[in-house]
Amino acid sequence: MKTISLNDHDAIPALGLGTWKSAEGDVYKAVKAAIEIGYRHIDCAAIYGNEAEIGHALQDVMAAGIVTREELWITSKLWNNAHQKEQVRPALEKTLRDLRLDYLDLYLMHWPVALAAGVAFPASSDDFLSLHEAPLPETWEGLEACVDLGLTKNIGVSNFSIGKIEALLQTARIRPVMNQVELHPYLQQKNLVEYCHSQGIQVTGYSPLGSNDRPERLKKADDPVLADHPTILEIAEKYGISWAQVLLTWAINRDTIVIPKSVNPERLRQNFEAAAIDLDADDMARIGELDLHFRFINGATWVSEEKGYTLATLWDE
Ligand SMILES: NC(=O)c1ccc[n+]([C@@H]2O[C@H](COP(=O)([O-])OP(=O)(O)OC[C@H]3O[C@@H](n4cnc5c(N)ncnc54)[C@H](OP(=O)(O)O)[C@@H]3O)[C@@H](O)[C@H]2O)c1
Repeated sequence: MKTISLNDHDAIPALGLGTWKSAEGDVYKAVKAAIEIGYRHIDCAAIYGNEAEIGHALQDVMAAGIVTREELWITSKLWNNAHQKEQVRPALEKTLRDLRLDYLDLYLMHWPVALAAGVAFPASSDDFLSLHEAPLPETWEGLEACVDLGLTKNIGVSNFSIGKIEALLQTARIRPVMNQVELHPYLQQKNLVEYCHSQGIQVTGYSPLGSNDRPERLKKADDPVLADHPTILEIAEKYGISWAQVLLTWAINRDTIVIPKSVNPERLRQNFEAAAIDLDADDMARIGELDLHFRFINGATWVSEEKGYTLATLWDE
């Protein structure tokens, strides 16, 4: 498995397992099967509601001697309702208890959006805290303190624009090593990936297969479908691989990290095997032309004009 260096002491496997929407009862089996197949990188988050079951699987594969803690790369994310500086450490400690781990490899600020304590998803503007009430640099200080305490080896951000990273770098004592954002041929974000790489920040692409199991409220009838694109299908046929493998190998070939979610053993294996495939430069260039700047996760959940959040301020575009 290709790895990508984050700094002089850590390297992250270029393909990991996504766990959003992996349901109770499924996620234990999926994580265990994935690690048996060879996955060493698991992408988690407190808000996915399944970290305790993932922790059970991690404990069992380690107890069975299939893998050691040092061989695993575990990422988790701080939810939006714990952005006050003093809330960050308890949130991470809860995640560590659930995952049955002493430390994370990477802890990310999930969204540049703050919610009131105890609110999982906003029902009205009252549920938000403005970025004046919960400034991102202060949340970041909370994450930095977790590195000092050895609770996580690395920290990073998710869903951050170039502008928000630039602002964070002004005050950060510890630089972010990662920005996790949506990436696939219909949302290539070339400028953002280039900017992050120029700053020594690596980029993980989420929803790389188009997140077909995303909640219905995030779907529209005319949303484009990656699996249907003739160029993707032609390339799949040329290499004798699946459309999903084309998307995953494209992501790795452009030096990004990719975290497809699956709970199906056959697809887990297929996705893992994509990391060993190379696409030639012509095919990379053909996929490079498919950008629609289309988001499957469009951020509408995080709009509250009253508290200063619009889609324009979220994505800075
Ligand atoms: N930072 C953030 O804000 C953020 C946002 C979204 C996602 N993420 C992370 O990124 C991960 C991946 O994104 P995602 O879950 O949105 O979507 P995704 O990985 O693009 O797509 C998942 C869907 O694809 C199916 N699938 C998986 N492998 C397949 C294959 N080889 N062929 C056909 N279908 C396949 C899955 O079904 P089966 O399970 O039945 O195989 C599931 O329905 C998440 O799980 C999460 O860890 C982070």
